[in-house]
Amino acid sequence: MTESLSNLLSENRTFPPTPEFAAAANAKPEIYDEAERDRLAFWEKQAGKLHWFKKWNTVLEWKAPFAKWFVGGKLNASYNALDRHVIEGRGDRVAFYFEGEPGDTKVLTYADMLREVKKAANALTSLGIKDGDRVAIYMPMIPEAVIAMLACARVGATHSVVFGGFSADSLLARIQDAEAKLVITADGGFRKGAAFPLKPIVDDALKGSHPVERVLVVKRTGQESAMGERDIWWHDLVEKQRAEHEAKPFDSEHSLFILYTSGTTAKPKGIHHTTGGYLTQAAFTHRMVFDIKPEKDIYWCTADVGWVTGHSYIVYGPMINGATQVIYEGTPDTPHKGRIFEMIEKYKVTILYTAPTLIRTWMKWGDEFPNKQNLKSLRLLGSVGEPINPEAWMWYREVIGGNRCPIVDTWWQTETGAIMISPLPGVTATKPGSAMLPLPGISAKVVDDSGNPVAKGSGGYLIIDKPWPSMLRGVWKEPARYQETYWSRFEGLYFAGDGAKLDGDGALWVLGRVDDVMNVSGHRISTTEVESALVSHDSVAEAAVVGAKDDLTGQAIVAFVILRGGVGAVQDGLEKALKEHVSKEIGPIARPKQIMVVNELPKTRSGKIMRRLLRDVAENRAVGDATTLADPNVMKLISEGLKSGKRED
Ligand code: PRX
Repeated sequence: MTESLSNLLSENRTFPPTPEFAAAANAKPEIYDEAERDRLAFWEKQAGKLHWFKKWNTVLEWKAPFAKWFVGGKLNASYNALDRHVIEGRGDRVAFYFEGEPGDTKVLTYADMLREVKKAANALTSLGIKDGDRVAIYMPMIPEAVIAMLACARVGATHSVVFGGFSADSLLARIQDAEAKLVITADGGFRKGAAFPLKPIVDDALKGSHPVERVLVVKRTGQESAMGERDIWWHDLVEKQRAEHEAKPFDSEHSLFILYTSGTTAKPKGIHHTTGGYLTQAAFTHRMVFDIKPEKDIYWCTADVGWVTGHSYIVYGPMINGATQVIYEGTPDTPHKGRIFEMIEKYKVTILYTAPTLIRTWMKWGDEFPNKQNLKSLRLLGSVGEPINPEAWMWYREVIGGNRCPIVDTWWQTETGAIMISPLPGVTATKPGSAMLPLPGISAKVVDDSGNPVAKGSGGYLIIDKPWPSMLRGVWKEPARYQETYWSRFEGLYFAGDGAKLDGDGALWVLGRVDDVMNVSGHRISTTEVESALVSHDSVAEAAVVGAKDDLTGQAIVAFVILRGGVGAVQDGLEKALKEHVSKEIGPIARPKQIMVVNELPKTRSGKIMRRLLRDVAENRAVGDATTLADPNVMKLISEGLKSGKRED
C-alpha cells in the first residue's frame, strides 16, 4: 500500500470536461448543493422518477443498521423496466443488440422484451412460482438471462443469479442457502470458441439435498442434454404461454434479489437487495454517471449478469432509463483480439463500461487492435471492479477514447447495490486513477483506526456514514453476520473493507481491500474459501492463500500449502492437480496462479496466519516485520525451502 500511495501522490494531471460536454450533460454542478441541502428530499425526487402504483408514506426508516426506503410505496421492477416504455410509445426502441460468440445476432425492442418477459412470467406461474419464492438463475450471457430476471421480478419472486463460471458445489451451496424452488439454466453457452456445458453442472449440483422442484432449460448450444422428470425446455414451456400478464404491485421493501459474494470466511454471503430504493439509485446513477441520452446513445456494459454490475448496469438501471444496449456472450479475444473494438464500430457504441483487468489486457495485446477500428462513436468511458492504475487510465483515455471521452471510475460493491463514488461527467475534472467524490446524496469518508475522518493528504479506511437507498438490507438469513461484517469495526459506520486515501484536493483514491479478500480480475474471492478448497484435497494438511500483485488481473492467487504426513516428497503434477481441485470446488475464477509447497506457515502466538509476510514472499519482496511471529525463524525456513524446492508457474 505504501508503494501505491507514493505513486499516487505524484499524480497531478487533471482532465476537466469540455464546455460542449458540460453544456449537454445530465448532471449540472448544482446537483451537489441540492442533495446537500436536503438529502432525503433529494432521494425522494429521484424515486419520483420511477413508476409507483402507490406512493410511499415515509422516505426513510432508519433503525441502524437496518434501513427501509420509501416505506408504504408499491411498485413493480419489471413494469418500470418494460411496460412503462411501451405504454409511453417507446416500444419500437431497441433494448438489446445481442451478439453471441459464434457471431449469431438478435435485436430485441422494448416491446419484444415485454412480450417475452410476460410469457416467461406466465411460465413461472405455471410452475407454481409465487411472490416470495426464490429462483436460481445459472445462465450464459444471452437475452434469456435478462428475461428470466425480469420475469422473476414481475411475479415477485426473488432471483439469485449464480455466475456461469461457478462449480456444481458452489451452485449447490447457493441453491441451498437461498432455498430456491426453481433453477433456470441453459444447455450451455459459447466461450473461447467452444461450447461449455451448464445443464450437466446443474444435474451434478442437484445430486445433493435441495428444495428444487423444477429445472427450466434454455436451448443455446444444442449440446446433448439429458432431460429428466424435473427438467423442462424453455422453448416448450415459454413459447406456448399467453403474451398477456399484468404486473402486480409489490412493497418498496419487497425482496428483489440475492447475490452471493465472497467475504473473509469460507461461506459466501447472500447479499439481499429490495425493490424501491435499489431501483431508485440504480436508475439515478445510470442517468447521471453515464450521462445517458436514451434516444441517442448505444450503451455497452461488458459485465456478465452473474455479477452485480450486470444487475444494476445492464438489467435494472439502463432498462428503467429506456437505454439501448449491446450485450455479448463471449470472450474478448474470440475469434480475434479486436472483437470488442469491431463491435464498438459495428453498433456505433457511444458509452463503454468495462473493468481495469480488460483494459490492461488490451494494453498488453497492443494498440493495433483498437487502432484498426473506428471508435469515434464513443463519447464516455467507465471503469469498475478494482482500482485502475493511472497508466491504464491514460491508455484508456488516449487509445480507446481518442482523448475526447471523459472517464468515470466508479467505486461501489455488491453490497452498495449501485455506484457510490464517481466523477460526474460534465462536472468533475478527473484525475487518472481516482474515483474522485461521493455522488450527490451519498456520504462516504476516509477514517483512521478510531473512526475519525482523516485530514487531506492522508490514508485510512473507506466508510459510509449515512444510509443510502440501494444499500443491502442484510445478509440472507444471517442478521448477526450483517451487523458483525459491516457495522462492527467502527460504531455506527458501514465499513466496506477497502482502504482509501484523500488527496490534497479532497479527491478519493481507493487503494483496494484491507481484509482477507482478494480481487482477481474484478472478482472478489476470499482467501479462506480457497484455503478450505485446498485443504479438502487428500494431500493437503494446511493452506494459506494470498493475493499477490499481478499486472493483468490486479491480484493473482498464490497458495502456500503444507502437505499431509503420508504424501512425502512433492510429486510431479501435484501443483497442477491442486489448481484443478480448487477450480472444480469453487470455479475456474478461483484457480490459484501459483502453489508453493512449504513446511511451515507464519503464525502469530494466537495462531493467526500472517498473510502480510506471505504476500511479501509471493511478490518477491524482502519480508517485513516478523517480530510478532510465534516462531521468528519460520519466514527464513519458508524462503530457504522455496529457493531449494521447485515452483510451478
Ligand atoms: O475493493 C473494491 C473493488 O471491488 C470491491 C467490490 O467488489 P464487488 O462486490 O464484486 O463489486 C464489483 C463491482 C461493483 C470493492 O470493495 N472496487 C470496485 N470498484 C472499484 C473498486 N476498487 C477501486 N476502484 C473502483 N472503481
